[in-house]
Amino acid sequence: MNSVTSSLPSADQKGIEHRCDVLIIGSGAAGLSLALKLADHCNVIILSKSDRNEGSTRYAQGGIAAVFDEHDSIEDHVADTLNSGAGLCDEAAVRFTAENAKDALNWLINHGVPFDTETNEDGEKRFHLTREGGHSHRRILHAADATGEALQITLNDAVSAHPNIQFLERYNAIDLIKSQRNKRGCNGAYVWNLEAAHVEVVRSRFVVLATGGCSKVYQYTSNPDVSSGDGIAMAWRAGCRVANMEFNQFHPTCLYHPQARNFLISEALRGEGAQLCHPDGTRFMHRFDQRGDLAPRDIVARAIDYEMKRLGADCMYLDISHKPADFVIKHFPNIYKKCLSVGIDITREPIPVVPAAHYSCGGVMTDFNAKTDLDNVYAIGEVAYTGLHGANRMASNSLLECVVYAAAAARHIMANLDNTCSHEPIAPWDESQVTDSDEEVIIQHNWHELRLFMWDYVGIVRTNKRLERALRRIQLLSQEIHEYYAHFRVSNNLLELRNLVTVAELIVRCAMARKESRGLHYNVDYPDMLPTPAPTVLRPDEHDQHTEPGSLST
Ligand code: FAD
Ligand code: SIN
Repeated sequence: MNSVTSSLPSADQKGIEHRCDVLIIGSGAAGLSLALKLADHCNVIILSKSDRNEGSTRYAQGGIAAVFDEHDSIEDHVADTLNSGAGLCDEAAVRFTAENAKDALNWLINHGVPFDTETNEDGEKRFHLTREGGHSHRRILHAADATGEALQITLNDAVSAHPNIQFLERYNAIDLIKSQRNKRGCNGAYVWNLEAAHVEVVRSRFVVLATGGCSKVYQYTSNPDVSSGDGIAMAWRAGCRVANMEFNQFHPTCLYHPQARNFLISEALRGEGAQLCHPDGTRFMHRFDQRGDLAPRDIVARAIDYEMKRLGADCMYLDISHKPADFVIKHFPNIYKKCLSVGIDITREPIPVVPAAHYSCGGVMTDFNAKTDLDNVYAIGEVAYTGLHGANRMASNSLLECVVYAAAAARHIMANLDNTCSHEPIAPWDESQVTDSDEEVIIQHNWHELRLFMWDYVGIVRTNKRLERALRRIQLLSQEIHEYYAHFRVSNNLLELRNLVTVAELIVRCAMARKESRGLHYNVDYPDMLPTPAPTVLRPDEHDQHTEPGSLST
């Protein structure tokens, strides 16, 4: 069985143990920022389960929000975020993030992230600020329409050059190693070396989850494959609370084309004047919200979904062809090229678009130091629930959250570096009772089944019946997957599926607990908003399902 029950080495364990002060699981904006902030003070191991640059960060288009315009203010950034969050943001977290935004951006600028600039009427150079849904001002710093790529590459280059940072690429973290002596302590993580196909140990004084979101739980998503909710599932199994998992953000405009799976059409297009329309060119957003095409995402995604179902259409259209061609190509070179490669010239014709799962507003509960419920475990970036996004994340606030909370975690870890040191023996990974998988098809099948019914039953519009149906299926799948996990050697697909089924259950349980419609969570059976907003918090110790709360490692 894949369990940790004894401290005796099993016959075939490989016995490799890596050591560091801080283990960071994940190499996106959050993980890389933290590694750079810590590395002059301690040694760091950073893991990525795929190519080191693969993660949502790399695909971010629009940019990063911060107050740089003299007519804008932190108060307005706070007010817009609270407004998008539909009453459910933690105002203190919003304030903390908005107030630290400029420092976070200046840190990125000092590291060389090439944000676009322009020259004003007085001949002064300044950052070009774009606009997106929910923002009352131009507030988004960006690197054309490929901000994430610029950020990922710049930070990765700096990390790669730092002597105190060791990168373990293509290592998939399986589970946190809980301390046997301190119920709330952690000694590192078991990690699956994809190349060597065996489990190794990383022993560390601090562990930071920076594993990104879980949008891969849905059939259609803008996210890369790595977004399988591993950090959320690991933290849950180790005994951490999670919150607001029902708030899955569906981006309204992903390219609808058979040869362009997952490709996003940035909201910045609407910020620069693009209009949503029916196949016959009729505009429709003003019928749903007075802000029209720049309404917050939940409203726009639901409007598109509604119009597609009402008209029986496969997609809606986003049109920017009324703008001068050179303007479009200058601002959106990446989107222009990608669309052209599949035969769509966006300077002349509308772009076919559909909504897709994009961002997980909920996650592992953390405080202002990014600390979870465990003493020396932190969560930063999309994996975390900080209270910033409430019931609906405002565009371009998430990369900001990655950098702001990476700085907070760095401060707290550095202040506690002298306190934490464990020499406790770590139980080896025990494979003595498992064999090689006999039927990979079970993993493939369950993977597809899960993502399809999550899309159909737990998508943009929900009902009580659909949620109940989804939960029944999750429980069956969960049992099957956990039996499979207990009897066969692990593989990357199996590890991801095990985590996906856990986060699917957390999403459905949160959705069932919310007896109202608010922000991204819309339930036809409870169409109204309750007078008093409250986050949905799940506690592992109150849970007895297949999600294995509090187990050491299974
Ligand atoms: P990620 O960048 O997703 O990185 C996750 C890392 O964790 C990866 O390195 C992965 O390999 C690793 N990992 C995961 N599980 C494991 C495991 N078990 N073991 C080891 N490693 C693991 N936000 C904005 O603010 N502005 C935007 O313009 C914007 N545009 C977006 C466009 C797209 C197409 C997408 C998908 C998202 C966009 N977002 C945007 C959201 C934003 O990009 C993400 O929220 C943010 O990048 C998340 O960063 P992260 O560091 O938390 O995780
Ligand atoms: C986009 O460019 O539309 C994505 C922005 C975001 O998700 O914050």
